[in-house]
Amino acid sequence: MQKIVSLCKRRGFVYPSSEIYGGFSAIYDLGPYGVEIANAIKNIWWREMVQLRNDIVGLDAAIFMHPKVWEASGHVTDFADPLAECKSCHTRWRVDHLLESAGIFADEKMSEKEINKIFEKGKKKIKCPNCGKNNFTSVRKFNLLVKSNLGNFTEDWTKEPVYLRGETCQGIYVDYKNILDSTRVQIPFGIAQIGKAFRNEITARQFIFRTREFEQMEMQYFVHPGNELKEYDKLRKLRWNFYLNLGINKNNLKWHKHENLVFYAKEAYDIEYNFPFGFSELEGIHARGDYDLSQHAKCSGKDLFYTDPRTGEKYVPHIIESSVGVGRIMFALLCDAYAEEKVKGETRIVLKLPKQVAPIKIAIFPLLANKPELIKKAREIFDNLKTNYMCEYDGSGNIGKRYRRQDEIGTPYCVTVDFDTLKDKAVTVRDRDSMKQERIKVADLKEYFENKF
Ligand code: GAP
Repeated sequence: MQKIVSLCKRRGFVYPSSEIYGGFSAIYDLGPYGVEIANAIKNIWWREMVQLRNDIVGLDAAIFMHPKVWEASGHVTDFADPLAECKSCHTRWRVDHLLESAGIFADEKMSEKEINKIFEKGKKKIKCPNCGKNNFTSVRKFNLLVKSNLGNFTEDWTKEPVYLRGETCQGIYVDYKNILDSTRVQIPFGIAQIGKAFRNEITARQFIFRTREFEQMEMQYFVHPGNELKEYDKLRKLRWNFYLNLGINKNNLKWHKHENLVFYAKEAYDIEYNFPFGFSELEGIHARGDYDLSQHAKCSGKDLFYTDPRTGEKYVPHIIESSVGVGRIMFALLCDAYAEEKVKGETRIVLKLPKQVAPIKIAIFPLLANKPELIKKAREIFDNLKTNYMCEYDGSGNIGKRYRRQDEIGTPYCVTVDFDTLKDKAVTVRDRDSMKQERIKVADLKEYFENKF
């Protein structure tokens, strides 16, 4: 974990937010290479979810929504995690996590009373992971919604807050009717969205795994009630294959079935990834019944029924969802890719990222940094390739250092212009993983890379 966190900072993938002011807990910025991976993940997801499907449409709902949305969804009352504070060092902890580490099962969905009972019984066994003392407060449920005074100009705005969205899918539910009325979708159909979500997470000490601001990719699929579980099984397969096609090692993935379902859910599974702290949730796939639309119909007073144009049958569609954080996929990809290899007695750090998500696809160098004729040719090749690929031109330091730097950011290919290039019109292309080098004619480079990518 430490090695990945340090590489991310050192090489410009992820920075702590506002670092010159000491950082801002559980918030991170994506650096130049991080934003490239995140964009690649989002593009691959969008292509598969929207572009290649004629039954799924996209949406970009606003982050701020009417506060009643969050009352209807149950977030204002129930979107809460159990919190206890260590009275010695004042660190706050999620009680279900503390209990889990002591081998005691507790669910974050349990009531305050239930979880207090379990914690009282089990807390003798639990030490504060920060200071090692055993001196906790009792448990209180802490609501995770982040509040704002947007549009409220009074002093006591906290009494009537608006919320930053805690999940993106609520925007999908409340726009479901608009989409039905303005497009040609028919059940079964889906709505996909990528956007920021915010949660006042109690413990956020696992790098970009759990942050207070994060980006979700969610797809909600609206189905006939009788087809919910059949469609759910299809969605589970689709999502599992997404990770295999992305290039994640199958052995680092597994299914986790939720045993304690919320009352309206039909089925819930997570796809877990083997993060440095063990298998943990990467994505949630849930069969949610008609809960979401029924709640919004009840609270808004609007008719959210669907009428089948062929049979005339009227019903509230059931929803199955796929929900994942961009940061979690990025973290999983980085963990999967990180490797240290011994090369000629030295350690080479290399990110063996799948080519499709590598932030830089091709790096181009002049062999020597002070030879104008080599620089000119390398620049020419860079200008030619950059129209099709994210490329980087690097003319500083020695060639060995440049290779090492590109290995560390996961660049699949490096192209070097040397003195022979001026005579034979060919360059050396070096492969990141095999480190093999081959001579390729400059005129053939575009075709060569077309085949490689
Ligand atoms: N609409 C359903 C929903 O939001 P969730 O299990 O709370 O379900 C879904 O979240 C996914 O969003 C998670 O599997 C994870 O990938 C991502 N996620 C949730 N909370 C997160 C956080 N604090 N930081 C980063 N990603 C998070």
